[in-house]
Amino acid sequence: MHELMKGLILAGGFGTRLRPLTYTGAKQLIPVANKPIIYYGIEALAKVGIKEIGIVVGETREEVMSTVGNGDRWRVRVEYIPQEAPMGLAHAIKISRAFLGNEPFMMYLGDNILKDDLGALVTQFEKNRPQALILLTEVSNPREFGVAVVDDKGAVSKLIEKPKEPPSNLALVGVYLFDQEIFSAIEYIKPSWRNELEITDAIQWLLDNGRRVESQTVQGWWKDTGKPEDIIDANLLVLQDIEPDNQGRVIDSTLNGRIRIEDGALVEKSTIRGPAIIGRNSKIVRAYIGPFSSVGDNVTIENSEIECSVIMDGAKICNVETRIDRSILGKNVVINQISESPRTHKFILGDQSRVEIVK
Ligand code: G1P
Repeated sequence: MHELMKGLILAGGFGTRLRPLTYTGAKQLIPVANKPIIYYGIEALAKVGIKEIGIVVGETREEVMSTVGNGDRWRVRVEYIPQEAPMGLAHAIKISRAFLGNEPFMMYLGDNILKDDLGALVTQFEKNRPQALILLTEVSNPREFGVAVVDDKGAVSKLIEKPKEPPSNLALVGVYLFDQEIFSAIEYIKPSWRNELEITDAIQWLLDNGRRVESQTVQGWWKDTGKPEDIIDANLLVLQDIEPDNQGRVIDSTLNGRIRIEDGALVEKSTIRGPAIIGRNSKIVRAYIGPFSSVGDNVTIENSEIECSVIMDGAKICNVETRIDRSILGKNVVINQISESPRTHKFILGDQSRVEIVK
């Protein structure tokens, strides 16, 4: 039955908290374990049998569209829905009405990654047919999310977006199931203080008007990749489950733990401690790659040590004496330690780049 259910993935927004990475690209395309974040959402929807996915795109639409394509590789059909400005999650649903029609749908925020399979969510929705089914999880920083008040039976009584004084520590995870009643709710709500039509307010409207809102709690981990630290944590969580595989050349090196080395990569006189991924045609020479590192394609790491970091395509790290830890390097970034005179620091950094140097 859920074959009829459509999917809606939101991939607009400016990603301001992820600058400078988002100056040149969409936040949903930042790689986690060498895969654009949005792919995790598409895969999750495809896995529960959803065949038609609408992707709401904003300013970065060209890049999202050329990376994701028409959905063939997941055997789904992808349609793009342009949003002229990031006016909120409920606004994104409103402009997707023609695509969604009157079937129930699953909305998935394109910057969220979850370990859980969404099958249980679909099963509960189909069994009880509430107007909305939300996913919740306990967090330590509820002020940064939509927050729910739930009774002992799991019934939702109240929802507040980014409360100053959170009534609970149960945050709304970015996966929601709705039926067409949500469209009525959206007609009634007003923009919030941040001038967005909040989905949280629309669900509160459903509650206030006697509609049924159910909840489920996340079993595994969940990450909203809004900030740089979240990307590093999401990368760590995803790498925990990678399948080891070696398609590259390993010469005179020590490899421990689960490691994926992609086609054309070279690892020479190096140590890699998994979980880690080395992307296509990358060169790791006289280097140390520590746990929870994702190295993209065409990267060179020579005479240097990295750990728990995300290194994107084309980056180069050479002769850096101090280990690089919990760092994110964008595409084609170069870090090179020199020994000739003048031995000065030389930086060419885009706006809002961050550098921490040890003494
Ligand atoms: C949005 C929702 C919020 C939810 C969060 C999950 O927040 O408004 O209720 O908890 O996603 O990722 P935003 O990312 O728009 O700040």
